[in-house]
Amino acid sequence: MAGTETQKEAFHIVAVVGSLRKGSYNRALLREAIEAVPEGVTIEVFDKLADLPLFNEDIETQETPDTALAFKEVIRKADALLVVTPEYNSGLPAVLKNAIDWASRGSPSVFKNLAVGIMGTSPGAMGTVKVQAQLKQSLGGLGAYPLAAPDFVLPLYKSKFDANLKLTDEATVTRLTAYLDRLRELGTCLSAIREKL
Ligand SMILES: Cc1cc2nc3c(=O)[nH]c(=O)nc-3n(C[C@H](O)[C@H](O)[C@H](O)COP(=O)(O)O)c2cc1C
Repeated sequence: MAGTETQKEAFHIVAVVGSLRKGSYNRALLREAIEAVPEGVTIEVFDKLADLPLFNEDIETQETPDTALAFKEVIRKADALLVVTPEYNSGLPAVLKNAIDWASRGSPSVFKNLAVGIMGTSPGAMGTVKVQAQLKQSLGGLGAYPLAAPDFVLPLYKSKFDANLKLTDEATVTRLTAYLDRLRELGTCLSAIREKL
């Protein structure tokens, strides 16, 4: 009945990309994820990782940078975090690890009981498997819950995107929607034990 139904709030995801370059395939993958969101899910991109200084406890003691505070705040308010990242030398891009280090500070950590989705694409056949394992280890150590199998890896990106960095592969679009749906399921379960505000 009109007026008596409670409006269901959207499930809100904050997303970051581990690549800073304009022509990033991982950024393109995030754009596609935003287009493929299931109904009732929103994605906000936090695009300021490059503004963070290299983590240094001395800087933190003097004054935590505004960008670090802003990153923590968007995570705190979100229902889940989505990390879309390339793999650098079998591991985490420094810009991403730096951001995690800044946001990890304080107690309770904003990562505690947080649902985290991880996606990545690469030109090679492994499709960011190794960096995803590292990320799970790091975030798991902070009390976050990275979404478990099946992972979202997208190998051989040249065969999946066109020259304008648009996905040409319908199966991948379907997979994006399904993955985000699973992230919502996990985040919804965790909301009972997560300190959001
Ligand atoms: C410093 C560096 C290290 C890299 N190491 C790896 C790697 O370990 N595994 C991999 O699959 N690709 C690696 N690559 C290739 C990246 O996957 C590729 O450059 C990719 O396009 C980067 O992501 P982006 O398009 O989102 O910027 C590396 C690239 C750079 C610049």
